[in-house]
Amino acid sequence: MTILITGGAGYIGSHCCVTFLEAGHDVVVVDNFSNSSPESLNRVASITGRKIAFEEADIRDRTALERILKTHQCSGVIHFAGLKAVGESTEIPLEYYANNVTGTLELLAAMNACDVRQLIFSSSATVYGEPQFLPLTEDHPLSATNPYGRTKLMIEDILRDLAASDPRWRFGILRYFNPVGAHKSGLIGEDPRGIPNNLMPFVSQVASGRRDQLSVFGNDYDTRDGTGVRDYIHVVDLVEGHLRAHEALAALTDETNSFTVNLGTGTGYSVLEMVKAFERASNQKIPYEIAPRRAGDVAEVYADTKAAEAKLNWSAERGLEDMCSDTWNWACKNPKGYEASDG
Ligand code: NAD
Ligand code: WQD
Repeated sequence: MTILITGGAGYIGSHCCVTFLEAGHDVVVVDNFSNSSPESLNRVASITGRKIAFEEADIRDRTALERILKTHQCSGVIHFAGLKAVGESTEIPLEYYANNVTGTLELLAAMNACDVRQLIFSSSATVYGEPQFLPLTEDHPLSATNPYGRTKLMIEDILRDLAASDPRWRFGILRYFNPVGAHKSGLIGEDPRGIPNNLMPFVSQVASGRRDQLSVFGNDYDTRDGTGVRDYIHVVDLVEGHLRAHEALAALTDETNSFTVNLGTGTGYSVLEMVKAFERASNQKIPYEIAPRRAGDVAEVYADTKAAEAKLNWSAERGLEDMCSDTWNWACKNPKGYEASDG
């Protein structure tokens, strides 16, 4: 049986393909390449030595999804496809609701029609809104402050409603903290288009000389050095969490047919700690200036990891050093990301 990976050509999806292929699973990727390149899948094939099936399609195309689910005899879905930039979501909210919410509804309808009722969903710690206590446990109140976050919250609600309506469904909702790093080989990694929004790709581009300096968004937060603290998790740890989640889905019952867990390390690092760690890993100086706070940012976010340990028998293994050195290795080997190989 084959697992359908939506958004499998993207940053997290491509790493997930490697982990699942290496664990002996068959996978088929559906991606419209709106934020990725087919080259990432060639690289997945190089790493694993396995040919990878992929179908260029939009997840809003229910007919295409039904055909793919049937043709490849899929037994379950890992659902990464969607748009993910918080700032952009405030500018083009309809695109976010269409890709993320409508896309998920079409996917679920196609799955239902094909009797495939097992799905792992990429949610985000953004659904916790402004933390009321730390570490964030899965029962922390949920809220969203931007259209991107609202799409994640809406999709979670849709999955909970569907799980309650029909015991045949099996859902694993995974709330990612801050995924960073790259595969050890340096063949796949994060390849943002344009100016990176996220800290790690920006720092990496400063280290490699593509950008002059980092703007540190605020140094007057109530944190140990005044800069924002986040729970960074190595992308390979993150996708190994998906493998454990896939196994855990098989143990669910009609009575308890879904779970929701955080995927984080439980440890927070500040922006300046990340900069220092990246300087050590890359042996490069990272110039920075202190800039005003970024709208919508919170001081500190980190996960409670007990549910993941108990329900998935999983915890993150890779530390900050690996996160930085693997990002740097990817950046050095692919100074223009996948672009140079796109032909
Ligand atoms: P990404 O943009 O690299 O990957 C998403 C993939 O989905 C891309 O390959 C894109 O081309 C594809 N896609 C987008 N819309 C599509 C559509 N309508 N039909 C088919 N394919 C489509 O992003 P990522 O960082 O790998 O994130 C994967 C998932 O994890 C997303 O759902 C994201 O919201 C979620 N997530 C990411 C982070 C993060 O910081 N990277 C954190 C929390 C949650
Ligand atoms: C981390 C820290 C910034 C860039 C976002 C989404 C979240 C999730 C992960 C998808 C913060 C600071 C950043 C820069 C900086 N994505 N920073 N200068 O904001 O925690 O989370 O990505 O679900 O939903 O909101 O991640 O990497 O943007 O920022 O000082 O140029 O780095 O202020 O403290 P964030 P990030």
